[in-house]
Amino acid sequence: MTRKLSPGRLVIASHNEGKVREITALLGPYGMDPVSAGSLGLPEPEETGTTFAENARIKALASATASGLPTLADDSGLEVAALGGRPGVYTADWAERQWFEGKPGRDWYMAMGKVEGLLCELGADVDRRAAFVCTLCLAWPDGETALFEGRVAGGLVWPPRGGHGFGYDPVFQPAGHALTFGEFEPEAKHAISHRADAFRKLVAALA
Ligand code: IMP
Repeated sequence: MTRKLSPGRLVIASHNEGKVREITALLGPYGMDPVSAGSLGLPEPEETGTTFAENARIKALASATASGLPTLADDSGLEVAALGGRPGVYTADWAERQWFEGKPGRDWYMAMGKVEGLLCELGADVDRRAAFVCTLCLAWPDGETALFEGRVAGGLVWPPRGGHGFGYDPVFQPAGHALTFGEFEPEAKHAISHRADAFRKLVAALA
């Protein structure tokens, strides 16, 4: 049985305050008080894992042992069936562009184009199935961890469609829907997303 999470402070192993706000909205009603690893000055470990679960575990354990508080970390990305699950843990890296005007940056159109280029090399009738995956890892300071995986299955379209969302949303069409995530209203996406699926599993097990 999964260890229960007591109400109180929960470190979010992220330096992204937007992510912390989103998690506060989801877990606040269960008595959790999320605080970011960034605001506590906790170091960000290198994500050296080859799976979402490994990376989420690395991030969660690093902050839990450094802070002495339970910590939640997530890792997410796109798995493309015909590419053997790539880009997977390298989903964000595929958008990394060369330094431009003195700054590094991410170009999501370049990343979507890279995926499409690889699919095209495999022929016109290539399997276009893909899934967004979100793995959450909750770690306690004594080293115990619990993992929750959320997924949303779908297919990749080209050209990209829609101006909502972020990352690869404009090319991802969830199964059973005619719109891409880029064309979904944000609330509609949040209802069926991989992240929502993972949080539902976490809340069902821990709350
Ligand atoms: P991270 O887990 O925050 O490092 O995210 C990994 C990458 O996966 C993001 O930078 C996005 O490119 C991609 N990704 C994760 N979730 C979504 C999503 O809901 N829509 C589009 N792209 C996503």
